[in-house]
Amino acid sequence: MPNFTSSTRDVPAAAAVPRHIAVIMDGNGRWAKKRFLPRFAGHKKGVETVRAMVKACLERGVEYLTLFAFSSENWRRPQDEVSLLMQLFVKALQQEIVKLHRNGVRLRIVGDLTRFDPKLQQLIREAEEKTAGNQKLCLTVAANYGGRWDIMQAVNRLAAAHPEQGGRWSETDLEPFLAMSFAPEPDLFIRTGGEERISNFLLWQLAYTELYFTDALWPEFDSAALDAAIGSYLRRERRFGRTSEQLLGGSAGGNPPPESSLHA
Ligand code: IPE
Ligand code: IPE
Ligand code: MG
Repeated sequence: MPNFTSSTRDVPAAAAVPRHIAVIMDGNGRWAKKRFLPRFAGHKKGVETVRAMVKACLERGVEYLTLFAFSSENWRRPQDEVSLLMQLFVKALQQEIVKLHRNGVRLRIVGDLTRFDPKLQQLIREAEEKTAGNQKLCLTVAANYGGRWDIMQAVNRLAAAHPEQGGRWSETDLEPFLAMSFAPEPDLFIRTGGEERISNFLLWQLAYTELYFTDALWPEFDSAALDAAIGSYLRRERRFGRTSEQLLGGSAGGNPPPESSLHA
């Protein structure tokens, strides 16, 4: 498993294109409502945007694209919307997997999958296995995902794996158990739909991510809108706790003293 730098321990190398983009795809319902269509029509249209985003990220050399598709709180929605969303997820998996595979995309699903229908769980396993060797773009779909769930499942698995350490853990101990341990932390976070909140998405991993909010609704978010987000990201000064003067002087700055890890 790759061992990526953590933004609180090291300063990640700057890149011309964000390596990892994480997106809250919001505004499907409002897009449909504006057109006097049922909410589901917005979700369907939203799948087309996903397709276009994958293509755009492949073209731009983005290595990781992570999409929030269904939060652990979305079960609170009306039963018929939840079940239509599940059906759409199944259909999209079945229809897109061959094309994703052909384009060198690795698909991963993160979240508590145990609440899903066994048939959907099986489809997810098959899609992940089929694309496991692909390296062009890692597309991660967060489904029944919650940032708090993620941290707690990681804590519980860590405690089960090392009961002898009696609960004295460091960040380095916890990170391999987090759902996104296979990816570097997101460089750029995008939320469409006008809301400016994290809604229990990647709470741990967004520690130093650049946040970008846009009023564009997800079904109308296109490659030009993606470029605007990347452009905004490129104009940011990512200080990771240092001063501007340190950055201008080309000094990397000192890293914090290493945590006293129990593995050390
Ligand atoms: C995001 O769009 C998709 C999911 C949460 C599944 P919404 O369905 O939240 O759309 P709005 O926010 O009601 O417009
Ligand atoms: C966040 O959108 C979750 C997803 C896009 C999957 P919501 O529409 O559920 O978020 P809130 O309820 O407005 O915070
Ligand atoms: Mg919403």
